[in-house]
Amino acid sequence: MVVTGRTRNAFVGELARGFESHRLRQQFFKFVCQGVNVNTFWSKTIQSTELLDTSRQEKFNGHNRKLWFHLLQVRDNLKILEVGCGSGHFINMIKLYHPSCDVYGIDLDDEHIRFAKEKSKRLKIDVHYQVADVKHLPFDDNSFDLVFSHTLVEHLPFDDFVQEQKRVLKDGGKLIVMRVDMGKNNDKPFTYLEDEINALYAGIPSPKNARVGQYVEDPDITMQRLDQYQFKNINFNYNRIIYYMPDALGNKKEAISQIERNYQTKLAYAMFVIDRSKVGSKTRKRLLDLLKRQYEERLKLLRSNKKIFDYQSSALITISARK
Ligand SMILES: C[S@@+](CC[C@H](N)C(=O)[O-])C[C@H]1O[C@@H](n2cnc3c(N)ncnc32)[C@H](O)[C@@H]1O
Repeated sequence: MVVTGRTRNAFVGELARGFESHRLRQQFFKFVCQGVNVNTFWSKTIQSTELLDTSRQEKFNGHNRKLWFHLLQVRDNLKILEVGCGSGHFINMIKLYHPSCDVYGIDLDDEHIRFAKEKSKRLKIDVHYQVADVKHLPFDDNSFDLVFSHTLVEHLPFDDFVQEQKRVLKDGGKLIVMRVDMGKNNDKPFTYLEDEINALYAGIPSPKNARVGQYVEDPDITMQRLDQYQFKNINFNYNRIIYYMPDALGNKKEAISQIERNYQTKLAYAMFVIDRSKVGSKTRKRLLDLLKRQYEERLKLLRSNKKIFDYQSSALITISARK
């Protein structure tokens, strides 16, 4: 029998738990995972790497970079790890703007890590990316000043999520847990063709995946859990990240690039949905045409100086704690 993907990972995880010391567990993982297509579950079934990356470029843009760095408590000369780093956009930005930091990113998904490595090479920055499970971090005890995650905590049991992060944090080191408060958007997108586009999406069967986001819980519960793990200075922030509001930027060039990024995200999402749902070529063409027309119309408005102040945002929960 050939064991692949998640089944194989779960199996490997069970075996690894048999090792007493984390060093042995790491070596075992390294041995089993080396050069093998361990897991592309996320990139193939939830969100393609390209879609993840364009959506993160949208969110973490020049306009709100300071807010992200403030929430992540990034300072110079820190040793930083992101768990579940996906396409690596956050980690790459940290290294670009704080080159004195020593930065690491791990993710379970092979494809995400391959992409992250290539991108950091293109950006000519020195970032350490590795395929690994947050349940078995391949790092020594007490080795990081800051360990953070963005939209990971809701996907696995809290004990699995936190134990290893606590172990690799230095005493006094910071843990930052970020996630989006889903369903709390009150966006006002550019509405030209929006109804037609949404009607088309509604007709496409949505791919189901019960496992994703199944451990989401209110921030006070997460904070109580951190308290039980004896973290100190447990704190909570709630922010709205406005990632798209081109008319308010007062900078046409930047506004155009925001509109373009927004279109790329929508396009990547449409392609992902289309590919996974295997919709007919007519629907596919109709949807892509509509998105393109909507994008072109939005650019035209901007160029003719007609302001509509459309906006999109996301509700971000940030919990921080000290080991
Ligand atoms: C919603 S994505 C967020 C990615 C990234 N943090 C971001 O915001 O761009 C969740 C990520 O967690 C990763 N992931 C899920 N379970 C994991 C685990 N047990 N260990 C490490 N990564 C995991 C997935 O592969 C995926 O890349």
